[in-house]
Amino acid sequence: MDAPLSGLRCVTSAFLVLVTMMVLCAPVLCGGAGITSSFVRKVEKSVDMPLHSDVFRVPSGYNAPQQVHITQGDHEGKAMIVSWVTVDEPGSNTVLYWSENGHKKKEAKGKMNTYKFSNYTSGYIHHCTIRNLEYNTKYYYEVGVGQTRRTFWFLTPPEVGPDVPYTFGLIGDLGQTFDSNSTLTHYESNPTKGQAVLFAGDLSYADSYPNHDNVRWDTWGRFVERSTAYQPWIWTAGNHEIDFAPEIGETKPFKPYTHRYRVPYRSSGSTSPLWYSIKRASAHIIVLSSYSAYGKYTPQYQWLEEELPKVNRSETPWLIVLVHSPWYNSYNYHYMEGETMRVMYEPWFVQFKVDLVFAGHVHAYERSERISNVGYNILNGKCTPIRDQSAPVYITIGDGGNLEGLATNMSEPQPEYSAFREASFGHATLAIHNRTHAYYSWHRNQDGFAVTADSMWVSNRVWHPIDDSTTIKM
Ligand SMILES: [Fe+2]
Repeated sequence: MDAPLSGLRCVTSAFLVLVTMMVLCAPVLCGGAGITSSFVRKVEKSVDMPLHSDVFRVPSGYNAPQQVHITQGDHEGKAMIVSWVTVDEPGSNTVLYWSENGHKKKEAKGKMNTYKFSNYTSGYIHHCTIRNLEYNTKYYYEVGVGQTRRTFWFLTPPEVGPDVPYTFGLIGDLGQTFDSNSTLTHYESNPTKGQAVLFAGDLSYADSYPNHDNVRWDTWGRFVERSTAYQPWIWTAGNHEIDFAPEIGETKPFKPYTHRYRVPYRSSGSTSPLWYSIKRASAHIIVLSSYSAYGKYTPQYQWLEEELPKVNRSETPWLIVLVHSPWYNSYNYHYMEGETMRVMYEPWFVQFKVDLVFAGHVHAYERSERISNVGYNILNGKCTPIRDQSAPVYITIGDGGNLEGLATNMSEPQPEYSAFREASFGHATLAIHNRTHAYYSWHRNQDGFAVTADSMWVSNRVWHPIDDSTTIKM
C-alpha cells in the first residue's frame, strides 16, 4: 500500500517542483529561447574616481614618462608601438629595449608631438615603434632616457599560424569611474590570463566634461597604464573619441585620440588610423570605424572590400571584427544606430564567414546567436533576422563602467536571436585553443575573479562550422 502512495507523492512533488520552476523561469524565458539574466545588482550611477585617486597619480621624478601604453606595431606582431607622455619638457624620444635572455640593450628612436584643444595644451606625446622583435619573447623596455627612467615589459605573440593558442581580453566603454577600476582589476585578476586587449571603443569620456576637458585624457592614460604598458591594447575608435566641438573652435574630429593613440594602419593598406587590421597568433582582427564614412565608394568601404578576400584562413583561421556601434542590440539605448553599417557590410561578413563581431557603445552585455538579415531588400518584406551558420556571433561588451552608467532598459520580449543579455559591468575573454575551438566567457564585476557569467564554445566557421548555438530556436 505504501509504495504506490509514496510514488504518487513523488509524482506530485515533482509536478510542484516543475510548476514552481516554470513560474520562476517565466520572466527569464519570455519571448524566446534566449536568456535575460535575472541577476540583481545595485543600480547606482557610476561615480568618477576623484582626481586625487591613487590610480591617477603622476609618477615621481623630473619629467617622468607617464600614460605609457603599447599596441601592435605591424601586421604580424613583430613590432610594438610604445607611447608615453612627458610634461616638464620634451625629453628623449628613445626607447631602450632588451630581451629577457639577451641583455644587450637596443635602441629605437620615436617622434614627439603636441596638440592644443581649446584652452588645453597637451604634454609631449611620444610614439616609438620597435621593430624586428622575436616572437614569443619577453622584452623589457625603458623610457625617459637621460632623465627619470621607467622600465616596463611585454611578451611578444607567437608567430602567426593556424593552431596557435592565444587569449584576448575584451573591454569596451571603460571611462574612469570606480566601476571602470573594478572592471580593469577583474580583467587583471581573471585566472584566464588575457595576453592582449581588444578594446571596443570609448576610452576616457573626456568629452563628457566641460570643454571636453582633455585633462581627463591624461588621467585616463595614467589609470590604465598598469595594463596598457605591459600588454598591447588593440584600439577601436568610439563616439567619445570624435571630440567634435565647434562651440569651442574644435572642428577636426578625433584630434586628441589620434594624437595620443597610434595604430599600425598603413601595414594593412589602410589610409586612416580609424580602420585597419592586424594578424596576431591565429587571429585576423579587423577594426572598423562606426564614425567614419562607410558607404559605397568611401575609403573605408574600398579598404574593407579589398581586405576581406585577403584574409587567409589557413594561416589565421579566426576572423574577428571590432566596431563600436553594435549591429544587433536589443537594449533601448542606441537602438538601430549600427543599422546603416550593417546594411552595407553584413553580406560580406556572411560571405567571408566572420567568426565573431565585438562592439561596445551600449553600456551592458549581450550575446547573439549566429544570425543574419541579408535577405531584406525593402520590397520583399523579409526584415526578421534568421539563424545563419555562416554568420558571426555578435557580442556587445560596452560594459566597462563609464560615468554614463548602465543601460538597464531592454526591449521586450527578448528577440529570438538574442542568446544572453544582462545589464552589468564586466569584461570578457576569448581563449583560442586551435583552428577549430575557442572558449569565450563573460565576467561580471560583482562576481569572484574566476566566475563566468556567460560563456560558449565557439566553433570556427571555416574549420569546424558546426551549429554552436546555445539556445533552442523557437
Ligand atoms: Fe559609445
